Amino acid sequence: MKIEYAAIEKCKSFREAVKSVCEEEKYLANTTGFTEEQTKDFVEKIVANHYSQFYAIENDKVIGWCDIIPRDQELHKHAGVLGMGIVAGFRNKGIGWQLLQAAINHARSNGIERIELEVYAGNRIAQKLYKKVGFKKEGVKRKGKKLNGKYEDVIIMGLINI
Ligand SMILES: CC(C)(COP(=O)(O)OP(=O)(O)OC[C@H]1O[C@@H](n2cnc3c(N)ncnc32)[C@H](O)[C@@H]1OP(=O)(O)O)[C@@H](O)C(=O)NCCC(=O)NCCS
Repeated sequence: MKIEYAAIEKCKSFREAVKSVCEEEKYLANTTGFTEEQTKDFVEKIVANHYSQFYAIENDKVIGWCDIIPRDQELHKHAGVLGMGIVAGFRNKGIGWQLLQAAINHARSNGIERIELEVYAGNRIAQKLYKKVGFKKEGVKRKGKKLNGKYEDVIIMGLINI
């Protein structure tokens, strides 16, 4: 397994990894993934702006990712929003931890001072990993998620002085 910086050539494989985690319908805010065009636009923007995105690669395939994208507004640009996932079957092998380290180090060297994320209340494994890295719980969006008529709280976490 290798950790590599984002690349347009890996776009298709990145899209498939995201799709597979989305389709689990448990962890991410979308159940179907993104189109090829949406994914390409996203990765192109990342590469062009040197934003922080890393892939875990196994046999030339993306099996995990972590990105930290700076917020747009003038007074919020020092903060980055984190997203990540590991394809089922590759979890609990330390890959999430390694991806987080790579993305946080890169974001720090890009001037990011604060990282924020949202995680579903039932996703204890992700929360445990984020706490291990130093994230603190900052709030709760009560019933922030709704899927098939079922609600779940959304936990807001943040890491400062990275
Ligand atoms: C959450 C996720 C990114 C963690 O990545 P990972 O590669 O599985 O995690 P790691 O192997 O690096 O483990 C890091 C820590 O997470 C925790 N952890 C991981 N898998 C676990 C499991 N099955 N049971 C309990 N704790 C677990 C442990 O605290 C572990 O630390 P330890 O090694 O000291 O025990 C990954 O499980 C995943 O992609 N889940 C589905 C998508 C998702 O939740 N994305 C985040 C949305 S906010």
